Amino acid sequence: MVLTMPIIDHFGLMAPHYDRLASFRRGERMAELLRLPTRGSILDAAGGTGRVAQHLAPQAGLAIVIDVSQPMLRQAAAKPSLVVVQAEVENLPLPRRSQARIVMVDAFHHLRDQERALAEMARVLEPGGCLVILEPDVRRLGVRLIALAERLLLMRSRFRHGEVIAGMAMRLGLVSRLERDADGSVWIVAERQGED
Ligand SMILES: C[S@@+](CC[C@H](N)C(=O)[O-])C[C@H]1O[C@@H](n2cnc3c(N)ncnc32)[C@H](O)[C@@H]1O
Repeated sequence: MVLTMPIIDHFGLMAPHYDRLASFRRGERMAELLRLPTRGSILDAAGGTGRVAQHLAPQAGLAIVIDVSQPMLRQAAAKPSLVVVQAEVENLPLPRRSQARIVMVDAFHHLRDQERALAEMARVLEPGGCLVILEPDVRRLGVRLIALAERLLLMRSRFRHGEVIAGMAMRLGLVSRLERDADGSVWIVAERQGED
C-alpha cells in the first residue's frame, strides 16, 4: 500500500492536542442525519483522532476510523470501541457495499483526490446506507479566510461548495441533499437507495 503524505505533516504535529483544541458538539445532529442506530458498520473516513467516531460507536455494530496520519490514529486507538486503519480514503481497504454508514467531518477539503475518495466511499456504502459529509461553508467570508490561511501554511486544502459535493455524489448514484448551519457549516447527506 502506497500512502501519499503531504509535504508538511500538519496533522502529525497537531495530533496530541487535537481533541482539546476542537471538541465535537454535533454528535446528536450527526446521529440523526445518519439514521443511527445501526447494527452495521460505520466508517469515519479521514477520522483522525476518532473525535467524531467515539460519539457514534455506541450506536453501531462496528466503528472503523480510517486516516492517513499515524499520529492522529494513535489517539484514536486509545479510545474504546474504535478499530483504526491507516489508509487513504482514495484507496479504502474495504469490500464493496460493506459499510452501513459513512461519515466525513472537516476533511473533504484536505483530500488529495476528492473525486476518487468520494467514488471509494460510494463503492463501500451498502444499499440503504447513508454518507454524511460535514464541511465548512465556503460561501462564508470566515471560511474563505481560513482557506487562505491554510494555503499560506502549505496545507493542500481545496474547499468546494456544498452543491458541488452533492452533485458529485449524485453522479455516483447517491441521492443527495444539503443542509446549512447558522454557524457556517454545510452538511451533505448522500444515500444509496435500497433495503437498510
Ligand atoms: C481536520 S482533520 C479532521 C479529522 C476528523 N475527521 C475530525 O473531524 O476530527 C483532517 C484529517 O484528514 C486526514 N486526511 C487528509 N487527507 C486524507 C486522505 N487522503 N485519506 C485519509 N485521511 C486523510 C488527516 O490526516 C486528518 O486527520
